[in-house]
Amino acid sequence: MKRCLTTTFSLSLGLTLLTAGAPALAAAESAQPLAMRGIMQDLGRHMQTVTLAIAREDWALVEKTAPLIAQHPQPPLMEKTRILRFVGTNMGKYKSHDHKTHEAAHELAQAAKNKDGMAVIAAFQSVQTGCYGCHQEFRKPFVEHFYGAR
Ligand code: HEC
Repeated sequence: MKRCLTTTFSLSLGLTLLTAGAPALAAAESAQPLAMRGIMQDLGRHMQTVTLAIAREDWALVEKTAPLIAQHPQPPLMEKTRILRFVGTNMGKYKSHDHKTHEAAHELAQAAKNKDGMAVIAAFQSVQTGCYGCHQEFRKPFVEHFYGAR
């Protein structure tokens, strides 16, 4: 009898979770920041490092930091899939912003290696243009999609 009660209980609990659980889970998921946000925050920090390094003409530090911008980590596969599904038919544009940013970061590293200050600054501007391009086009809808309007 005891066992039977437990079964009934877990069955009804299971049903409750099935019905009410789905939206609750979705809400919890959207409240949790994506790994993407942490990756972006790191990119922001690397850009700050480069700004200061340029001011100090510390080309070695620029050279060391640029690859961290060029080869930033990817979100985990599950999250990446969700992001790619969200980007959908705009994939070409999204990837192109990413690609431009990577290319500019490589140029940044090369210019720093050459200790060519003006080229470093020009490449840095290209990197920022890459970041800005994607943010202008995708950030707002991205945040709305994954976190709800804010
Ligand atoms: C291909 C698209 C893309 C590129 C390129 C890109 N970003 Fe982002 N970035 C995003 C998206 C989407 C968000 C919103 C993520 C979120 O709020 O979870 C974001 C958000 C951010 C944020 C805000 C994070 C926060 O705490 O809200 C920072 C800082 C940032 N990006 C820095 C950069 C820098 C620096 C670069 C260039 C070196 C860059 N991003 C390039 C798509 C991009």
